[in-house]
Amino acid sequence: MSRKIVISVSGKGGTGKTTLTSLLLKWIIKNTDEVALVVDADPATNLPDVLGVELDRTVGQVSKDMKDQIERGDLSPTTPKQDLLEAWVFQTLMESDRFDLLAMGRSEGEGCYCYVNNVLTRILDTLTKNYSISLLDMEAGIEHLSRRTDRDVDVMLVVTDPSKMGFETSKRIKELIEEVHIGVKKTYLVGNRFPPQLLDVLEKAADDIGFELAGNIPEDANVQSFNMTGKPLLDIPDDSPSYRAIAEIAKKIGLENLV
Ligand SMILES: Nc1ncnc2c1ncn2[C@@H]1O[C@H](COP(=O)(O)OP(=O)(O)OP(=O)(O)O)[C@@H](O)[C@H]1O
Ligand SMILES: [Mg+2]
Repeated sequence: MSRKIVISVSGKGGTGKTTLTSLLLKWIIKNTDEVALVVDADPATNLPDVLGVELDRTVGQVSKDMKDQIERGDLSPTTPKQDLLEAWVFQTLMESDRFDLLAMGRSEGEGCYCYVNNVLTRILDTLTKNYSISLLDMEAGIEHLSRRTDRDVDVMLVVTDPSKMGFETSKRIKELIEEVHIGVKKTYLVGNRFPPQLLDVLEKAADDIGFELAGNIPEDANVQSFNMTGKPLLDIPDDSPSYRAIAEIAKKIGLENLV
């Protein structure tokens, strides 16, 4: 693969961002030889569970450790803290033969989150350069856009469920991309759980907002049961309706041309 692609997944809470990220990762694993970088940029850190892996630490935790050490005076004033923090963050990267995973996590303490975000943004810039494909599962809502965690992504997938709030959030994301001049090369709307009779509403919403539609992931009993029983979504059967929809989405967003 010659080109690199950074894909971020955003949208209202609970619309299916983590599900889409996991299913796209499954597609990448099945259709390419690439070891993708997957970033859980949601403080709730759900992605490792859904992927069936365990993470020792998050970026939030290591930055809290650093803050504590500074406060206790354990670090000499001359220690290059940014470099040290970066090194610690790299150590939290979970590497497997199928994908590498970094989780941002939550950070405690006032003002700390912003700092962690700045560090993460810098580290993401460095890290994504080492991978042909990077997938970022963003925090729900629009905050990450003002923090610019996902600036300079190639493809932003905005997920909406069949709800007014889902559309409203998608619209707000579109406005913010323009307002804060984020260098997103291409944005798409992705529907999740739209029944066939509402697909025209989804198409119209995409048109109204000004997003190209990448597709719709249908309601899928397999996704539910994998979630309920804690089975990794990567193992969902290939003929599951949700996964079949992913092949179309991968094609639409140009992933297929890369492999
Ligand atoms: N197409 C689908 N069919 C069936 N269940 C689904 C589908 N998409 C998502 N779900 C279920 O809906 C719930 C929310 O999905 P998911 O966690 O992917 O949303 P999210 O946008 O990542 O949420 P959050 O904002 O909390 O991070 C999960 O329990 C998931 O298993
Ligand atoms: Mg999620």
